[in-house]
Amino acid sequence: MAKKLWGGRFKKEIDKDFFKFQKSIHYDYKLAEYDIYHSRFHVELLEKANILTNKEATALDNALYGILKQILEGKFKPDLSCEDIHTDIQNRVEKKIGKKAIKLALKLHTLRSRNAQIAFDTKSYCKKKNELICSLLKGLKSSFDHLARINKDIYIPSYTHTQRAQAIPFRDYLGAFTLMFKRDYERIEKFLQDYFIDIGPGTLANSSISDTYQKAIENLVNKHKKMFRDYSYKVMENSLDAISNRDFIIELLSILSILQMHLSRLAEDFILYSTKEFNFFNLPEEFCTGSSLMPHKKNPDFLELVRGYTGRIYGNLISVLTTMKGLPLTYNRDMQLDKEPLFSSVEIIEDELKIMAKFIKKVTIKREVVEKVLEEDRTLYATELADWLVRKHAVSFKQAHDIVGKIIILTEKKGGIEKVKDVELKKFYPELSQSVIKQIMNLKYAKSIKSLNLLGLGMPSGIPLPK
Ligand code: ARG
Repeated sequence: MAKKLWGGRFKKEIDKDFFKFQKSIHYDYKLAEYDIYHSRFHVELLEKANILTNKEATALDNALYGILKQILEGKFKPDLSCEDIHTDIQNRVEKKIGKKAIKLALKLHTLRSRNAQIAFDTKSYCKKKNELICSLLKGLKSSFDHLARINKDIYIPSYTHTQRAQAIPFRDYLGAFTLMFKRDYERIEKFLQDYFIDIGPGTLANSSISDTYQKAIENLVNKHKKMFRDYSYKVMENSLDAISNRDFIIELLSILSILQMHLSRLAEDFILYSTKEFNFFNLPEEFCTGSSLMPHKKNPDFLELVRGYTGRIYGNLISVLTTMKGLPLTYNRDMQLDKEPLFSSVEIIEDELKIMAKFIKKVTIKREVVEKVLEEDRTLYATELADWLVRKHAVSFKQAHDIVGKIIILTEKKGGIEKVKDVELKKFYPELSQSVIKQIMNLKYAKSIKSLNLLGLGMPSGIPLPK
């Protein structure tokens, strides 16, 4: 068991099983980088407060910088015998400073608590990860744009209630997903703009900070803007709130839950449209797996896992919400349990976005299959026929809807609209005939309407109508 950051008032050794039970190093090592930032900042603060001399502050900062370098180079291996990342880093500082200056190393923890460190570290993590998620969302958008560009002339059937509705440009279909993810992007961007990382001593005695102290921290915040990569830092307004607040985790997990819901809907659509029953999309083989039993199978495992992870991501949000419910002010150890759900959601979303961007780029549309459906299923243009009755013959939409509905019943009975005779059509409306149906109920006409239709309602004014 490594050295602990506490223990003065204890006479007995901690129970081994309990020590293991309460450790967090195996996951909070992910916060190492931010923990160092907090310490470097704190060293300067202690120097300003004349608790450290300039020489001492420099020695401590050099030690911290050495550890930071290791972290940034990916060479940092957490010491899993420690209780948490704060302890691990403290031990390393002591080692780097050397036995002779051990007293100096121990001064690092003056006037601060791990409760303040962990709040700072977790907030910094959220900020940094959000930036990464924003850039991954940009990558996904460019994959959608690419797929839309190379298929710009393709139309597909659209659906409501999973029943065929109307023919629509494939790019509009993709555009709907692009907009979902644009909203996610904006939510994250707003989160980034709104959130400040509180900095300050974070001991409860400092719940109201003196003016001089406040000034010193403010100066440091300004000075360190660069080191903290332009994150917005502010002096703790109230240290009770600063160390007990976990709203930012809950907010981020909510944003990620909505983003996950979008990814899951996207996955579901592509799973459905790649089935033999639909057969519209060909999914890239690199992201599918086969069956050990049935040689013909190509399964959409990536999409299924994306859909499946929704349970985990929603669960992570509920887990933190429930942990926080009813906690008395301020910090309570329960709050240690916010880390795993947070890291889990962030890491899953990162992987999903990264892979989805590659996946979408490689999806291919089975043009012949889609075109065949658009040609053979004339009911896809039933709305166009109703629109024609409205515009050409000033029939009310309700009546036009009724007329076309009846024609569809007959079509289904006869097995094709071309089989409905002129006399039958005229019974529904005198101006209807097979020649009108032929002109209107087809993709070419639907496209011409679409291209002139600014409202998207299928009712443009001033275009020539078929007789
Ligand atoms: N490991 C704790 C957490 O993640 C931070 C420090 C706990 N503080 C304490 N006094 N035990 O929330």
